[in-house]
Amino acid sequence: MEMDKVIGKILQGYQPACVVIAANELKLFDQVKQPSTASQVADNLNLAAEATERLLNALTSLEIVVKKDQSYHLPTEAHDYLVTGGSHSLQQWIQLSADLYPVWGQLSSFIKSGILIKSIMEMLGGDPHKMRAFTDAMHDKALKATWMIAREIPIGDANKMLDIGGGPGTYALEWCKLHNHLKATVFDIAPVLEVTKNYIETYELQDRVDTLPGNFHEDDLGDSQYDLVLMANILHMYDADMSKALVTKAVKAVKPGGRIVIHGFCTNEEQTGPLDDTLFSLNIGMLTEGGRAHPVEEKIDWLKGAGISDIRHFRVSAMPTGVVTGRKISPAN
Ligand SMILES: C[S@@+](CC[C@H](N)C(=O)[O-])C[C@H]1O[C@@H](n2cnc3c(N)ncnc32)[C@H](O)[C@@H]1O
Repeated sequence: MEMDKVIGKILQGYQPACVVIAANELKLFDQVKQPSTASQVADNLNLAAEATERLLNALTSLEIVVKKDQSYHLPTEAHDYLVTGGSHSLQQWIQLSADLYPVWGQLSSFIKSGILIKSIMEMLGGDPHKMRAFTDAMHDKALKATWMIAREIPIGDANKMLDIGGGPGTYALEWCKLHNHLKATVFDIAPVLEVTKNYIETYELQDRVDTLPGNFHEDDLGDSQYDLVLMANILHMYDADMSKALVTKAVKAVKPGGRIVIHGFCTNEEQTGPLDDTLFSLNIGMLTEGGRAHPVEEKIDWLKGAGISDIRHFRVSAMPTGVVTGRKISPAN
């Protein structure tokens, strides 16, 4: 292994991210929906022409934009992801990465003190605009995962689902779209549910998806009421004790014979991989007190301890990859 090359490549890592973040911030992708020259883009957006050309050239090298003669265009298959109003828009997710960039600049402070750099709730809590943008980013990010998980698990077996800390409600909405008989409740804090309600209206699923405001640390989530309970991207915000308590509470809400699904970042037993998950563990460590990408074995233990059997762990080709699922032991067993 040529270490200099490996390190050199790693050190470049933030630069492509900055290229995409800048293009997103400047709404440059909208401009290259149709072929445009660099100076046309610069004129329309009031940017420096030569610098715009460099950015477009870098986007071309990154194979996001195509350059033909002197014109640049975004391939049609990228429109849904990068153009404003696209059906699978990544705009809010890219913006979230931009917001995290200054936090990563303080990684060595976190390593020295072990104390979070900036509370994620503080980052979002006071500002309704940020809260909405974060919730929109969750939606953009979750879409692919919802489809991938639905290929692996018989979601259609369920009639009534609880989406704990469901945020935009993407999983509940996508799975209800797939299965006409499924009804779902999205549980989250009241301000977030205002955003969720907009998504429910957009999906036209008001008759089958409702919302339940509350605090999952303090409130009961029900007793044997749902045949499908989901916790997606929740446990990483808390330490092992709090996560275990939440899993126990979630399992209580599952009907005997019903299913629980935990989707989220989780490392291998040695906590050395996958790379996305070890990096995320640093990321969330800088934003929460005690949060981490809990190893998959730990999640399995919590589920077993709460009375879940037939436990299965698999990874999906989405972000994050880790899924752990199982069924609640019914009294007959
Ligand atoms: C990372 S987001 C995940 C959203 C969604 N499950 C997804 O994966 O797309 C975490 C969600 O948990 C919600 N949340 C955080 N603390 C909560 C609490 N104490 N009670 C209820 N919801 C909470 C947040 O508002 C947010 O919507």
